[in-house]
Formats: sequence, structure tokens, C-alpha cells
Amino acid sequence: MALIDGKKIANEIYENLAVEVQKLTRENNLQPKLAVILVGDNAASLSYIKQKRKACEKTGIQWVQFDYEESLTQDELLKKIQELNEDNSIHGILVQLPLPEHFEVPKVIRAIDPHKDVDGFTAYNLGKMFLGTEFEDLPPCTPAGVIKMLEYYDIDPEGMNVTIVGASNIVGKPLATMLLNRGATPTICHIKTKDLKSHTINADMVCVAVGRPNLITEDMVKEGVVIIDIGVNRKDDGKLCGDCDFERIEPKASYITPVPGGAGPMTVACLMENTVKAAKRLNNIS
Ligand code: GUN
Repeated sequence: MALIDGKKIANEIYENLAVEVQKLTRENNLQPKLAVILVGDNAASLSYIKQKRKACEKTGIQWVQFDYEESLTQDELLKKIQELNEDNSIHGILVQLPLPEHFEVPKVIRAIDPHKDVDGFTAYNLGKMFLGTEFEDLPPCTPAGVIKMLEYYDIDPEGMNVTIVGASNIVGKPLATMLLNRGATPTICHIKTKDLKSHTINADMVCVAVGRPNLITEDMVKEGVVIIDIGVNRKDDGKLCGDCDFERIEPKASYITPVPGGAGPMTVACLMENTVKAAKRLNNIS
């Protein structure tokens, strides 16, 4: 068994990006800038935002945060997004999810200029990804982070049967597309899937992003499986865990991601990469 060290890869990405950001500042007078919008005070969102801000500090990407009360109206939010779309000093716009219930998330996402959509959530960026690897320019960060982890450890998905558990627009569906682009045979399972085990037991790789501790147990996977655990759950003792029974699956797996320290840091690293990429593209720098 080998542990996939997402934290280490993320730190290497930050080191490279810091050099690139310095160069852009020096040679092009361009300092990439990320605008983050937070509505309300969801505890998980606050924690995620803190990690993103720290990553900006490590890479030299500028950070500007707009905090709003839960009572913010959708029109007010859309107006703010429009203002950021038109602001040439802003290269990335991120609306932290979840939003309070009175917001229509698809409408909010649609308001973001796709060239500044560093989360890769807009139909434009998701649609481009559908066309093939060469069009994945602002891919959603979590699937992009998974692909980077696989590349780092020379795990080639070509020919693999990959079962993805979780069919969200921001993880499961785009991850399946990115793996398909790389020659894998993905199967997407979800909450209504009958007999989940029948889909996981023969898979060469299992990726899970549901948010349910111990959803994937040792008896559900085969010897030598690659496990990518994208779930984040908080246990009673306050510690984090993923969706897999890590202790029991670990001896059986050829590779496995820990939670924390696997997919999470890679998501943030890919957000930083997308922000630098967006800044360059908006300024016609290749
Ligand atoms: N909430 C949980 N994960 C994410 C993410 O990657 N991006 C945004 N905008 N909100 C989230």
C-alpha cells in the first residue's frame, strides 16, 4: 500500500506558483487576484475559506473577501458579481457554497464571467472539458486535483474500470468526464444506485465523494484497488474522516488517499493554479 500525499503535492504546486506569480509581477506588472464572496457564516465554509486564503499567501496571489449577512438578496449578490466581472484587477471570482436557501445557485453561478470562473462551475468551463483534455483550461478544482494526484504517482487511468460514488456537478460528473478523457471506463453511482457493492467490488479504482463515513468498507473493494476518498466528515471527537473505512481498506489498496491530507489540499492547489491561469489569459500572456 502507498499513501497518496496530497499535502506534499499541493506544497510543490505552491512553490512553483510562487515563482510564476513573482515573474508575472516583475515582468508583466500582473499580480493575480482572487475575489471570494461569503454569504452567512457556515462553519465548514469558514474553514475552507481560511485554507484558500492561506494558499494565496503562500503563492503571492492577492486575496479580497466580501462577507455578507445571510439576509443578502439574490439581486444584491448578482450585482456584486457583475461589478467583479467588470473589474480588470480581479482575475478569479469564487462564490463559496453552500449559499443560504433563498438563493438559486445555478443562476448565481451563471452570473460569473466564465473567464474568471476559477471554480470551474459554469456551463462554459464544464462544457469545454467535455470536448477533451486540451479544452480543460479552467476545470473544476476537485476533479482536477484528483487527476494531478494520479499523474504524480504515475497511476495511468487508461483502461481502468473506475467506479465513482457521488454524481454531483462539481465532483462526480466532471471527474467521470476527465477520467473518460484519459481512457478510463467510468461508472457513476449515486444515492439511488442499487447494490453499490456490485459496482465497487471489481473496480480498479474507486473514487468516493458522498459525505458518509464508512460508506465504502473493506469487503466492497478488490485487492490492489486505488482508493480516492473525497468525502469530508467530522467525527464526534472533532477529527475529520472520509467516506472509506481507511484502517481496514488500507492494507488491501495499492494506493489510497488519507482524509485529511489527500484530495482536500489538492482542491485548493488547483484553485490557485486556475487563478494564475485566468489572470494570464485575461491579460493575453501565454
Ligand atoms: N463549497 C465546498 N467546496 C467548494 C468549492 O470547491 N468551491 C466553492 N465555491 N464552494 C465550495
